[in-house]
Amino acid sequence: MQGFGSYVPDERGRLCYLPAAPLFPKLEDVWGQLQRATKAVEEFDRALAAFPIPDVVGKLFARLDAVHSSGAEGATTTFTDLLEYQSSLKRAKEPEDVREVAATAYAFDELSACDAASYVDAALLIHQRLFKGARDPMIAAGAGKLKVHPNGTYDPEATGATFFYTAPASTAQSMVMWDRFTAEDDERPELVRQALSHWLFEHIHPVPDGNGRVGRLLIPLALRRKGVLRHACAFVGEAVHLNKNVYVDALKDARRTGEFSPWVRVFCSMVAQSAASNLERLEKLGTIHLRWLAATKSVRSHSVVHRLVPWILTKPTFTVSDALVQLCGAVTFQAMNTAIKRLTDLGIVTQLDVGGRDRLFTAFEVIRLFEPVNLS
Ligand SMILES: Nc1ncnc2c1ncn2[C@@H]1O[C@H](COP(=O)(O)OP(=O)(O)OP(=O)(O)O)[C@@H](O)[C@H]1O
Ligand SMILES: [Mg+2]
Repeated sequence: MQGFGSYVPDERGRLCYLPAAPLFPKLEDVWGQLQRATKAVEEFDRALAAFPIPDVVGKLFARLDAVHSSGAEGATTTFTDLLEYQSSLKRAKEPEDVREVAATAYAFDELSACDAASYVDAALLIHQRLFKGARDPMIAAGAGKLKVHPNGTYDPEATGATFFYTAPASTAQSMVMWDRFTAEDDERPELVRQALSHWLFEHIHPVPDGNGRVGRLLIPLALRRKGVLRHACAFVGEAVHLNKNVYVDALKDARRTGEFSPWVRVFCSMVAQSAASNLERLEKLGTIHLRWLAATKSVRSHSVVHRLVPWILTKPTFTVSDALVQLCGAVTFQAMNTAIKRLTDLGIVTQLDVGGRDRLFTAFEVIRLFEPVNLS
């Protein structure tokens, strides 16, 4: 077996990797995992389409993916932290971490609403969102731009024990190749193409930092853009977070051996794993919705409570101000307070803070579905 791609010395003699377009494995070598991933993600996609509340994928599942994808890279922000930060209180334990996680979620919202002109533009837009608010001015200045310095990772087999990704001088050209590869449309399975596209993106490592998070977010967006799925719901963040070593080893091994089927199988298992967990969450969310509808049935029909119920399901941590903004000032602060009090009495939401005009409320039942450990 031979390694894949070539190495080109930069001006300082460092050998930088120059990947070629990856090779599609034989279908029979990836068939089982590909079938399982396709089935799981299509099932989740169908369930999202049938769900009675719109945009649940952006409001909850893409946020969960942002938490996990960043968690895989060491961020400590939880789903609860993210929602608190995204409330009008903007509360944050680790401001830099949560800012980046929230930025990943905003980039998802933006690209879901309007596709970028090209995949390269989409990648740079995500990078821009992630780093434009960075505290370090050097990092902020590089937001939304291709790298200008070589980047590498520890690799005991490489000269100097560092594997250098594509040299800055070759990055723009390699990204044109990556864009073409990602956009190509033929009879071959798209999940396999996007697995290989992700491999290529990570080996070019086009931006100074955030390559893992940017690359993983492109997967659901590309599959939706290509019409494979109705929703951008083919996430891998959660599975990568749970199996980071397997993910990185499989990426690395394809380069070392030139054999892509193990990587594609790992990628498909991760898609399947995240989709199955998300489908289970969505089903439980549907049950909670029905329970809330039953619990509020006796509330008078024109009460604000009925407008709050579906909204809280996708925005389970909120303040009175957030609820007022959502209802576009159609109700007074007092009326909103009364409606939220009713939901508190019914056990649907719990007040988190005592005192203060703008108190934080949360629906623990929903939050619990998106946290790895049970909250009381
Ligand atoms: N040996 C390797 N070969 C190819 N790709 C790799 C290798 N090791 C890691 N990666 C990829 O690079 C990503 C990390 O790159 P980068 O630091 O730019 O992204 P990030 O999202 O900021 O992650 P981190 O917070 O760990 O720095 C990993 O998530 C993985 O996708
Ligand atoms: Mg990083």
